[in-house]
Amino acid sequence: MRILLLTHSFNSLAQRLFVALGERGHQVSVEFDINDRVTEEAVALFRPDVVVAPFLKRAIPESVWRSTVCLIVHPGIKGDRGPSALDWAILDGERAWGVTVLQASGEMDAGDIWESLPFPMRTATKSSLYRNEVTETAERAVLTALDHIVQGGFRPEPLDEHGPDIRGRPRPAMKQADRAIDWRADGTSAVLRKIHSGDGRPGVRDEILGVPVWLYDAHPDDRLAGAPGSVIGRREGAVCRATIDGAVWIGYLRRREEGTVPLKLPAAMVLGDRLAAVPEVPAHDGVTWRDIRYEEADGVGVLHFAFYNGAMSTRQCERLRDAYARARRRDTRVIVLMGGPDFWSNGMHLNAIEAAASAADESWRNINAIDDLVRDIVTTDDRLTIAAMQGNASAGGVFIALAADRVLARNGIVLNPHYKGMGNLYGSEYWTYLLPRRAGAASAEVVTETRLPMGTAEARRLGLIDGHPEGDVTRFRRAVLDIAGDLARDPALPALLRDKAARRSADEERKPLAAYRAEELERMRMNFYGFDPSYHVARYNFVCSVAKSRTPPTIARHRRRGPERRKAAGS
Ligand code: COA
Repeated sequence: MRILLLTHSFNSLAQRLFVALGERGHQVSVEFDINDRVTEEAVALFRPDVVVAPFLKRAIPESVWRSTVCLIVHPGIKGDRGPSALDWAILDGERAWGVTVLQASGEMDAGDIWESLPFPMRTATKSSLYRNEVTETAERAVLTALDHIVQGGFRPEPLDEHGPDIRGRPRPAMKQADRAIDWRADGTSAVLRKIHSGDGRPGVRDEILGVPVWLYDAHPDDRLAGAPGSVIGRREGAVCRATIDGAVWIGYLRRREEGTVPLKLPAAMVLGDRLAAVPEVPAHDGVTWRDIRYEEADGVGVLHFAFYNGAMSTRQCERLRDAYARARRRDTRVIVLMGGPDFWSNGMHLNAIEAAASAADESWRNINAIDDLVRDIVTTDDRLTIAAMQGNASAGGVFIALAADRVLARNGIVLNPHYKGMGNLYGSEYWTYLLPRRAGAASAEVVTETRLPMGTAEARRLGLIDGHPEGDVTRFRRAVLDIAGDLARDPALPALLRDKAARRSADEERKPLAAYRAEELERMRMNFYGFDPSYHVARYNFVCSVAKSRTPPTIARHRRRGPERRKAAGS
């Protein structure tokens, strides 16, 4: 089928559908929902059999839904309507929620239902639920709806708002007042629900140490306590605030004063000197927040690094590199690099770079700190390393994983192994060594030039990864630990390590790692300090969420001109 994905942006769900539908042999093209005229033009150019709308903020024009079946993905149960579906589900403490695929009609979210599937709720942020449960359920629901279309004869179910099995109802857009925290009355779980309901956007409006902010990235602590609302501790970028029955760590803040660029940044960066009197609190063994964590069993060391949004600042890279060095001093045979449950890595911390006095200097420091980490992994010769990608990864983040000996990715995650979309960034992380080493030179060029999201099946076919175990993050982690345990016990391990060392020294002789790095960084120096400001402009637009004014031709296949079309067909 010819499927047009009509979407506000090419977000994680749109990318996942793009990959899944392409894998099933459909012809998929994407158009951003910019205005009615652009949407009508896209439909006229592509002539889709069906329009699928994974993420819309406006209604589809009548001229389109009257002539073509338009399937809307709504992150809510049957009968639920409105733009804050997940926000309400979290705030109301729903135990089960769902995704409904409905047909666009004259009324928002009220069209006939093609499929509606449930999922169990988890204590997590809105964006974590969206990237995991919602995305997986939406993929299944959309595929079922498309099967109905292919088979023909299916009649979608009209929404009967008063029907006996209809639990959902129309809800208004959530306001800040609905999730406002009353620090003198709210316990830890209420505070968490409120912050989770607005994370990643819009956050919870609040004030902290006299600074007006939005709050994000909250985690419980089971030991610390203090006067409700007071800031009682700090740890790396995060601050700890007491509730009436415990405490929560808050990792990220966004200032909400006029005249400041409203960047989401580590709390300590936003609060600065105001934290001078706040004590540094070391992590304890119970429930608390820490972004880097090490555990060990049966000869396997596991390094977790759950960085918010997968963004890795200079400091985080340095701390992770130290943690890796400590892990290497342990008596283990395999080290698993586990990333975080929501993201493996999205490379340099673009917000921290934007906030720095010199964005160019901070970019330089950040990329060198990532490179140092990658070099340490690539040159680890006394044990095997496994990169275990539980969540999505992009740009330099993908290439960090390729530094490991084995790369495993959770089935269904989406990889974006390219940099060019960020203002023609050249990229480093030794990608010019690591990518062709795994995928071959020809595929490496296609991957970096086409700039498309890649699913785990394709990544496996190209050799970027070695396997993609199924399941949610818990099952995936278990599968990875089984594989790591088998390797650690494998009598052939010394031979594997000898092969690894031999291959590395042959590679080094052919071309030293330092030479790859120097060449990449020379190009990056031009990106950061050269005359062409594209990277700085693209980064600013990205961190400030400036909406795109057109869909890139890499994904708007219907808008490609002759040579672009031929190039894409050839690739
Ligand atoms: N630095 C800082 N923040 C980042 C980031 C990075 N490298 N990558 C992603 N984020 C943030 C986004 O700003 C967004 O923030 P929000 O919670 O305030 O909305 C959040 O992570 C989720 O990103 P989003 O784009 O909404 O997720 P997605 O799943 O829809 O799209 C990507 C994923 C990977 C396509 C997109 O995030 C991306 O292009 N990231 C930049 C990668 C990059 O160029 N890195 C630098 C070069 S090494």
